[in-house]
Amino acid sequence: MTLGGLDPAIGTAENYREWAQEARGRSPAYDLLATLVADDDAILRFLGTLPPPKRQPNLLFAAARYLLGVPPDITTLRALVSENPAALAQVMLARRTQTNEPARCATLLPALARLPPPLALIEVGASAGLTLLFDRYSYDYAGHLIAGSDPDAPTLRCAPRGPVPLPGGLPIIAWRAGLDLNPLDVTDDDDVRWLSCLVWPGEDDRQERLAAAVAAARRDPPAVHRGDLVKDLPELAAQAPAGATLVIFHSAVLPYVTPENRKRFIDTVRGLPAVWLSNEAPGVVPGISAPRCAGGPFLLVRDGDTPLAYTDGHGAWVQWLAGPPAVTGHAAL
Ligand SMILES: C[S@@+](CC[C@H](N)C(=O)[O-])C[C@H]1O[C@@H](n2cnc3c(N)ncnc32)[C@H](O)[C@@H]1O
Repeated sequence: MTLGGLDPAIGTAENYREWAQEARGRSPAYDLLATLVADDDAILRFLGTLPPPKRQPNLLFAAARYLLGVPPDITTLRALVSENPAALAQVMLARRTQTNEPARCATLLPALARLPPPLALIEVGASAGLTLLFDRYSYDYAGHLIAGSDPDAPTLRCAPRGPVPLPGGLPIIAWRAGLDLNPLDVTDDDDVRWLSCLVWPGEDDRQERLAAAVAAARRDPPAVHRGDLVKDLPELAAQAPAGATLVIFHSAVLPYVTPENRKRFIDTVRGLPAVWLSNEAPGVVPGISAPRCAGGPFLLVRDGDTPLAYTDGHGAWVQWLAGPPAVTGHAAL
């Protein structure tokens, strides 16, 4: 089981080789870079000086990009490791992989829009809160258009697959709050630069979307509270207004949480008067057995027991499930 993008059962070099496969097709530059790092003794030695969770490829490459001003290649990365290892280590120790992908809103919106309005939203693992701004963005589901409240916010393009219940409009959001171990501030230029460094080279459309979403968020910044998704969730949930449907949701967060804390989180969220939407890789939420869907890393599940859709990790498509996959009795953390 991987934790924060690293499998503790295998060595750092092997983790970089596996990660290269993940980058394949999406970012040829990072596919090559991770493959070369896996065989580079000096870089592996440098990584060995860091605590294991800080050895992630995504963190190393984003930190190098942050310092270099451009995405690293093997030559610039080797030079950085040999000439300025302290600066590189400092960024890697201070920062986290907190990629915030606003386009995930397009894959969650059909599920949200079916709930009784108004909605009160809590996103755990919200990063900078860009995935809390459902009603600001506009949407284009292969020609089915929905206008957001901010005409200058980006239009999220998402291909619907299967019987997606596309909404006619946006749900009324009465209240929203994020919770994150380390909230990023959309009004802070350095935090925004870090978010941009986390996008992979070759993904220019994501950079453009991120910049437009940050600009929209800056016009009315979302509240993202500092806290842990187990310990601090009940207190935040208690602040939601009565009379609104409370929705607790998360995307790409539980892989960073230990198996014990995932179980605690699931017990906690189940004990709250809320709809729970989980958008994570299949197997992350226990009890749902679903076959892997080619190219679709996430499974959208309601209340831990009702799979709704496969979703593209970057919001490019949503595949609604006609019939749910089997529910098993086994936890597959
Ligand atoms: C990959 S980002 C995903 C951000 C956002 N959900 C999205 O889909 O764009 C994961 C976020 O989870 C946060 N996180 C990890 N463990 C957490 C915990 N125990 N409590 C709260 N937030 C956590 C990280 O700080 C990070 O901002």
